[in-house]
Amino acid sequence: MVHLEYISFEHNAEAAAWISRVYDTPPLAFVHSYGCQQNVNDGERIKGVLLDIGYGLCDKPEDADLILFNTCAVREHAEQRVFGNVGALKGLKEKKPGLMIGLCGCMANQKQVVEKLRRSYPYVDLVFGVDGIDTLPQLICQRLQKHKRVLLDPAQRPVIVENIPIRRESEFRAWLPIMYGCDNFCTYCIVPYVRGREKSRRPADILAEFEGLVRAGYKEITLLGQNVNSYGKGLEPAVDFSDLLNMLCAVPGDYHIRFMTSHPKDASRKLIDTIAAQPKLCKHLHLPVQCGSDRLLAQMNRHYTVEQYLDLIEYARRTVPGITFSSDIIVGFPGETEEDFVQTLELVEKVGYMQLFTFIYSKREGTKAALMPDPTTRKEKTDRMERLLRTQDAIAMKLVADQVGQTVRVLVEGYGRAEGTLSGRLDNNLTVEFTADGSLIGQYAQVKLTGARATVLLGELA
Ligand code: SAH
Ligand code: SF4
Ligand code: F3S
Repeated sequence: MVHLEYISFEHNAEAAAWISRVYDTPPLAFVHSYGCQQNVNDGERIKGVLLDIGYGLCDKPEDADLILFNTCAVREHAEQRVFGNVGALKGLKEKKPGLMIGLCGCMANQKQVVEKLRRSYPYVDLVFGVDGIDTLPQLICQRLQKHKRVLLDPAQRPVIVENIPIRRESEFRAWLPIMYGCDNFCTYCIVPYVRGREKSRRPADILAEFEGLVRAGYKEITLLGQNVNSYGKGLEPAVDFSDLLNMLCAVPGDYHIRFMTSHPKDASRKLIDTIAAQPKLCKHLHLPVQCGSDRLLAQMNRHYTVEQYLDLIEYARRTVPGITFSSDIIVGFPGETEEDFVQTLELVEKVGYMQLFTFIYSKREGTKAALMPDPTTRKEKTDRMERLLRTQDAIAMKLVADQVGQTVRVLVEGYGRAEGTLSGRLDNNLTVEFTADGSLIGQYAQVKLTGARATVLLGELA
């Protein structure tokens, strides 16, 4: 195990001085994050770091002096979109030569991507990986002083940087990373390569950030990690994810906690008992199964069988009355047969997920699955995807309809689709629309569920 160092962010006064020397008025930055919540949270810290050295933020690339794409590499489509968006900036850069363009996040942790940017995108000024957020002031400074591109090769730093400034997107919902990286190497997945080895934050650091959020009035705090169930590996004294949850739930205040993602191989009965015991934890579990065929689960390197997975679901149902589940499914993993796929449909039916996030397998260079024969045609895969979506739609509609009649507490998140309505989220992650005025946004409300439109609940203030 590599030795992890914990350091604290330091304000970069030299960079701030350079910025104020180079620009007459505070320069503006446009930061856009793709991908998962972890990345969105990184984007919030990138904004915090930029504000710390004198940047302002803007919503339109055309207004910006610095454009930063915080990228995702999980599927090919995500990468193509980024290259498309970077390509579209060429004209803007020609009109505005002082414009700085940067790319960071998961794509920037792939060697071939950095090479491609170096060769074919001469107007990209800055490239740095997921572990480089705290060094951004230095990189900008280098770019300004030396008039040379600063393209860093992927590297992993065995450090955790605490106290990075942050500009959160919401005033009532917050992301809180408890760990970084992933050690699981599911054979289809690029994340362990781009995010590096698992690193857990110290409980005291997490608690301090958590208490700050509760004090600031945040209602929903979502703990993040690629596999929260392996939180604590290597920490002294020993602590596991359930211990961490119990510690956080002891903080007094008006809030609730979600977390993601739970890997089924490490989701323990202790975790489920903790959900049952702690009223601050949402009675909802995102437990990605990926597929319903033991043969493919083994090929995916997931380390559980369908039977073990169903046992866990069954235990959770028994222990936490009313608990709901959501999952991720990959359709068309290399070598998936009709029989494998039918087993996935059967599993989806058996569990009855409230929500399903479905993906057609995307080949990622450098992963094991990229070397596996994949004879299934695109057409077969999209057909299977449609069958899966139809199956899930019917399940979700029924589960949603079953909720009608209850009165529940929701967190009001924003305006609804229909005029004059607000949208709130239930403990079980479903959304409900109801008539009320905007002053309730960011607050809890009691809502009586009166009906449903597809998988969106309709209700009225109770
Ligand atoms: N760490 C989380 C998820 C990370 S990625 C977990 O293990 O559950 C989110 C989802 O993207 C995965 O659950 C998987 O369903 C999907 N995914 C990852 N790699 C993929 C690939 N190469 N092609 C298609 N979907 C993929
Ligand atoms: Fe990818 Fe598997 Fe790690 Fe999730 S657990 S990030 S799917 S390798
Ligand atoms: Fe994408 Fe990186 Fe998240 S690859 S899904 S942004 S960890």
